Amino acid sequence: MMEEFIRSYRVKPLIIKDKRVLRDSYIPSSLPGREEQINTFHNILADLLVDSPPDHTSFTGKPGTGKTAVAKHVINKYKKEYPDLRAKFIYVNCSQANTAYRVMYQLNRALQVLVPPSGYPYDVLYDKFVDAFYQLNKRLVVVLDEVDLLVRRDGGRLIYSLSRLNYDLPEELSLTLVVISNTADFLERLDPRTRSSFEPTRIIFPPYKQPQLYQILHQRAELGLKPGTWENEALHVIAAKVAQESGDARRAIDVLRMAAELAEKEGAGKLTVDHARKALDTVNEEEIAITIRTLPLHHRLILAAIAELMEMKSRQKVDRVSTGRIYREYRDKANKMMVSPLTMRRVSGILRELEAQGLIEIVMDYGGARGNTKVVKAMALPPLEMKKLLASMGLIF
Ligand SMILES: Nc1ncnc2c1ncn2[C@@H]1O[C@H](COP(=O)(O)OP(=O)(O)O)[C@@H](O)[C@H]1O
Ligand SMILES: [Mg+2]
Repeated sequence: MMEEFIRSYRVKPLIIKDKRVLRDSYIPSSLPGREEQINTFHNILADLLVDSPPDHTSFTGKPGTGKTAVAKHVINKYKKEYPDLRAKFIYVNCSQANTAYRVMYQLNRALQVLVPPSGYPYDVLYDKFVDAFYQLNKRLVVVLDEVDLLVRRDGGRLIYSLSRLNYDLPEELSLTLVVISNTADFLERLDPRTRSSFEPTRIIFPPYKQPQLYQILHQRAELGLKPGTWENEALHVIAAKVAQESGDARRAIDVLRMAAELAEKEGAGKLTVDHARKALDTVNEEEIAITIRTLPLHHRLILAAIAELMEMKSRQKVDRVSTGRIYREYRDKANKMMVSPLTMRRVSGILRELEAQGLIEIVMDYGGARGNTKVVKAMALPPLEMKKLLASMGLIF
């Protein structure tokens, strides 16, 4: 009763209808832009319908290109449409089960064999799995998702032994591997022995382009937001930016969720282009903070000097942020922090490094009488925000 009462008096969400739809784990019933990959995988598994062993398959593509979603989508479809199939599907996420032992533990569990989560001889685990497989008397399709770390650790030994197993099996049994990786050249990095015995059909997942990202966002908006609470233009803005940056659907959906939350927090009735832009910037700022946190102290001191000078420039107190000015400002800061400053030459090199990391933009200034020099034209964040960020990491201004 009380709880009901409190709930009804809480602020009502104005825009978000179903939060789950905007989360990473949600898989919609259709996957726009992945029709080809779905078809290919579906056709590979169709061998099961005539009780034949499907080919081994690999999925490769950058994070957020729909690999996990496609694998689960197609498998769920088979499970639903053909409940009597003489086949079993097992899904293992190898970023959690990142040793051969842990994967084998998961495979045993999937066949209802309980073994200790650690400390047993691996070979015993393997034999138990094979015994259970014979008992089950069905074809197996084993999805090994996010295998990158596992393969880096064991060079593909597990993939090798699971694919070799097929040579010992009777006609009516088979084990098909579906191996999912974030790197395109993952198969080339398997050890030679594995490579020669494991030749999967390859399905490639290219980064999403703007129209596909827009479709993906539109679908989430339809499912997760209340009708009429968003501007389509906002979705276009997110799709365009993410397509240009990475083509990562996960990021696009993240930005949509943040934009919706932002709009709700402001009490706005609609998610607008403005909210989309702000959400894109917020994520961007987090990424910049991560980059800066990994920089050595002197790099950060130089950035602080630049932020200081850029801010003075915006108040017309400095007319250009030249290498010489930056060096003097940096030297003062280093002295204040009681570290001995690097040479001008070294600082000049670090400016190029900061530019390569996208933190500053440098142009040549042919300043006539004062000679030619490199000047900083822009920073990845507005100067005041850059100062705030650096101050939060312990730099003194
Ligand atoms: N074509 C698509 N349509 C709808 N949602 C998608 C699509 N591709 C990816 N997603 C969503 O984007 C997120 C990341 O996709 P995921 O399959 O986990 O990528 P990957 O496994 O390649 O890293 C998930 O929330 C997923 O549901
Ligand atoms: Mg995945």
